[in-house]
Amino acid sequence: MEKKDGAPFKIGVMDSGMGGLSVLRHLCTLPFEVEYLYYGDLANSPYGEKSTEEVLRLTLSVCHSLLEKGASAILIACNTATSAAAADLRKELSVPVFGMEPAIKPALLAHPGEKIALLATSVTHREEKLRNLKSSLDAEGRILHLECDGLASAVDRGDAQRTRDFVRTILDVPKKEGVRGLVLGCTHYVFLKKQILSIYPKADLYDGNEGTVRHLVASLGLERFPGNSTSRIHFSGVSEGDIAYSFAKKLLDSTEENFP
Ligand code: DGL
Repeated sequence: MEKKDGAPFKIGVMDSGMGGLSVLRHLCTLPFEVEYLYYGDLANSPYGEKSTEEVLRLTLSVCHSLLEKGASAILIACNTATSAAAADLRKELSVPVFGMEPAIKPALLAHPGEKIALLATSVTHREEKLRNLKSSLDAEGRILHLECDGLASAVDRGDAQRTRDFVRTILDVPKKEGVRGLVLGCTHYVFLKKQILSIYPKADLYDGNEGTVRHLVASLGLERFPGNSTSRIHFSGVSEGDIAYSFAKKLLDSTEENFP
């Protein structure tokens, strides 16, 4: 991927809502001259409880919008959309498409012989992509699947009490069973690390954000373009100045991964 007439190249970053900002936050700390175009499809969120076909249709529509804005590569900063749509998008789009992967491997390696728990949406839990990952890691039977539908929407709304109630219920089983390795298989949940640890202090948390960013930087050779990044944020169904934008800025600036 090369610059066009000297302008910084643009990388599209998408999610169903605020979750992908947990990845964008990391990208914006890196010393590369890139313009990140963020698209949160709030008008159609949550994706995690929809059909595979619906998630594919919505994700494709967002990607086309990012391409129209000049994106030269796209990061699907959404485990749900990656699970449902990445393979088709890579066939259909003319630019490099990157996606998320639940950090199951590091969690299994850090907890040999133990079970680990995967927090994710219904789509991520049921799609073939996860089945293939589990079989490649010979992880059958070692993963406790925790359904978290509704949690991402509570994050999108900035409803800290609701997220706390959800997290408390979701963590009931791993706490009882002494499962300490928790994989945050949804980009929204990365903002809840502090909440999760306040409810389950013994937990070890794993997310795929850093691995995904490392892979994207290496694949695109971003180190060839030292400089400062910029970002532009858009949410469907929301106009500039709406509360969603100020909340998004708060999430982007949150450094302790504490949910504001
Ligand atoms: N942030 C998304 C993920 O990583 C999707 C959440 C949703 O829309 O259900 O799966």
